[in-house]
Parts: sequence; C-alpha cells; structure tokens
Amino acid sequence: MPVEQVDMGGYTLIENASLANRNTLRVAARAKLLAEIRDASKLPELLDFPAVRNGRLLVLGEGSNVLFTGDFDGTVLVMATRGVQVESDGDSARIAVAAGERWDDFVRWTLGQGYAGLENLILIPGTVGAAPIQNIGAYGCEVAEFIESVEAWDIRERRVVTLDHAACAFAYRDSLFKHEPGRYIVTAVRFVLPRSRPLRTDYAGINEQLARMGVDKPAPFHVAEAVVHLRTSKLPDPSVLGNAGSFFKNPIIDAALADALKREHPGLAVWPQPDGRCKVSAAWMIEAAGFKGVREGDAGISNRHALVLVNHGKATGPQLWALAQRVMHGVREKFGVALEPEPVVIGTR
Ligand code: FAD
Ligand code: EPU
Repeated sequence: MPVEQVDMGGYTLIENASLANRNTLRVAARAKLLAEIRDASKLPELLDFPAVRNGRLLVLGEGSNVLFTGDFDGTVLVMATRGVQVESDGDSARIAVAAGERWDDFVRWTLGQGYAGLENLILIPGTVGAAPIQNIGAYGCEVAEFIESVEAWDIRERRVVTLDHAACAFAYRDSLFKHEPGRYIVTAVRFVLPRSRPLRTDYAGINEQLARMGVDKPAPFHVAEAVVHLRTSKLPDPSVLGNAGSFFKNPIIDAALADALKREHPGLAVWPQPDGRCKVSAAWMIEAAGFKGVREGDAGISNRHALVLVNHGKATGPQLWALAQRVMHGVREKFGVALEPEPVVIGTR
C-alpha cells in the first residue's frame, strides 16, 4: 500500500505508517496516521485537523513500554521535540527538558555537568516525556523525586497546563497520567537536581559492583557505571532481542499475605512499603512457576530475567499477549497473586 509522507513545517504526517521500528518489542503494527512533531507550538494546529480531532490518539515516545496487539486505527503522535534549558543554577539546578529528548542522553548530560541524582536511572530506554508517565524507577530511585513540574497540553481544556509535583500523584510505576489516559500530552519536564547528595548504593548488587571496580569513595558517575554493569548483565538489549523491560509490575500486597508467602517460599524477595504493605518479586514467582526461558514460537520469557517478555523474531502482538496471560494465570494459580502488565497494551484488549 502506498505510504504518503508530508512535511508540514514543525511536524511530519505519514499515512498508513509502520510501527515495527517504533516499538522495542519489534511487533509489526500500523497506524492509520502518524504525526511526528518537532515543534510543540504546532500541537494545537495538528490536533485541530478533523482526522486527528475526531479519531483515536496515541502519544508515543520510543515505544519501549508498549505492546501493540493490533493496528492503531487513529493518529499516533510521536514526540520528537528537543531542548535542554538550565533555568537556574547554584547548589541545585532547575532544568527544563523537551519531551522528545532521549532519557539516557539527558542522564549522561547531567552527570557530565556535575549534577547528582539521576545516576541510578542511567540506561533506561525511552524519552524524557514518558519518564513521568509511569514514574520510571530503578536501583532504589524513582524519577518523581527530581521532578518539580510537568508541562503538558491538556486535550480536554485545549491549553498548556503546568502540573506541579503533587498534582502528578506519583507512586510506584504510577501517576496521574495513567489515571487520566488520553488527556495529557507531556511537552516538557522540569527537574531540580542537586550538585551533591548522599548516594543510594543499598540496592542489591551496587555495593558489590563498586567493590569489584575497586571504588571505595564513590562519586555519582561510579554509581552510574555500576548500574550500567548490572543492567547489561541482567536485561536483554532490545536492539538484539525485542523486549519492553519488565513486562509485569512487582505486586504490592497486604503484609499478612506477604508473610504467609515468605513462610512458604523463603526465597521470595519482599520489600516492605511505607504504607505497611509489601512489594513482592514478580520475577521470583514467574521463575518458580516454571516460566523463565519458555518459548512458544517466537514469543518467550527471557532466560536471563523472568520479568522480561521477549520477541525472538516474528512473534505477533497477540502471540506475545497470549503468553503474558498464561504467565499471569500460572502465577495466580500457584501463589494466589494477580500480576499486572507494566507496558501499555494497545489494540484488541
Ligand atoms: P513509550 O513506550 O512510547 O510510551 C509509554 C507510555 O507513555 C504510553 O502510554 C504512551 O502513550 C505514554 N507517553 C509517552 N510519551 C508521552 C508524552 N510525551 N505525553 C503523554 N504520554 C506519553 N522502566 C523503568 O521504570 N525502569 C527500568 O529500569 C526500565 N528498564 C527498561 C529496560 C528495557 C530494556 C526496556 C525496553 C524498557 C525499560 N523500562 C524501564 C520501560 C521504559 O523504558 C520506560 O517506561 C520509558 O519511560 C518509556 O519511554 P518511551 O518514550 O519509550 O515511552
Ligand atoms: N529474580 C528472580 N528471577 C529472575 C530475575 C530476578 O528470582 O529471573 C529475583 C532476584 O533474585 C531478586 C528480585 O527478583 O531477588 C529482583 O530482581 P531485580 O533486581 O532484577 O529487580 P526486578 O524487581 O525484577 C525491578 C524493576 C526494573 C528495574 C530493577 C532494578 C519493576 C517491575 N521492575 O525489577 O525495572 O530496572 O528493579 O531496580 O519494578 C522496568 O520497569 O521495565 C524495569 C526493567
């Protein structure tokens, strides 16, 4: 089918666009219309096209946290805006970053500039605009801690809004944006980063890796190097093997259930939460239920990390989703715990 591409000055429109190279699970899917926007001031004009206004809309960054189970019969809006602006500097800096910047590039830039805070969050794929959506986190840190505000186009109000930290309602892999899907298009994120702060090295593996590196007085870039080592040793690289990172969230359950599970399964990792509940390791339960390394056609569960759903080649979205559902069923049968997918499942769900 012919694919028509039009440059509108500030954004490009592509009809019947392939999404295969725009999701890290490498699932074949198409969008009726794809709009790649480089100038955020053109958003109102773009959103006003009848074809866009009257149809479904999906905002997409790098597609590292989505599973397409079918074609998207609407407009996929890809944020490709760029820009990093230091608004004030001193003991800490306020930095506004455009939604389309790559998260990992930004983290490395902050470390190079001597700002602390984001070292534990190095090497997470995706865009800056997507970071607040699920409040990305790794190695004992969450991005919310450093977000002062989020600037977004509010589709309902048809205006730019600034949502302060409290309004964003950040929680583990959660935020306001997940509770009001389709309402906000994040255009920029404003961070506050200190010049120094106590390093977080207590997450399993970091101190051991620093010791292996021969570092006894770590700086932020040492922690970053340790995290890069841990991440690359555990997680498959999406450019080699399609995946979306953790496919399931670690469930947060009542302390009494966590205690009972821990008594029966002493190997289960349990992390007490500030509200008295407990987060438990989904990876451990998936492995114990026998799914680590399984393969059904080209859909599989990584043999390196049980939380990672992988595409060995030509798995379709429905095939990957069917395997994910079998994993959820298996864990519920064995442990009585419901797993929730972390990525957004888009299509025939
Ligand atoms: P996409 O996948 O394109 O979109 C994700 C969601 O955000 C969708 O609902 C989309 O509509 C929405 N969205 C994206 N941009 C915008 C915007 N500008 N405005 C409004 N909505 C938007 N995540 C972690 O938290 N911690 C990890 O350690 C981690 N490790 C990973 C490792 C690998 C190998 C992979 C592949 C993924 C990993 N992830 C991790 C998940 C992923 O990197 C993050 O969720 C990331 O923030 C997704 O960014 P993206 O630009 O690819 O978003
Ligand atoms: N484990 C297993 N089997 C495995 C893998 C891990 O039993 O195959 C056990 C480990 O032994 C350990 C526990 O699971 O006790 C935790 O493992 P890990 O440190 O790898 O962390 P995780 O809980 O599996 C979470 C995040 C990751 C993040 C890491 C590091 C979620 C859903 N996932 O994984 O985030 O990078 O911690 O902080 O919270 C993502 O969200 O996409 C992601 C990769």
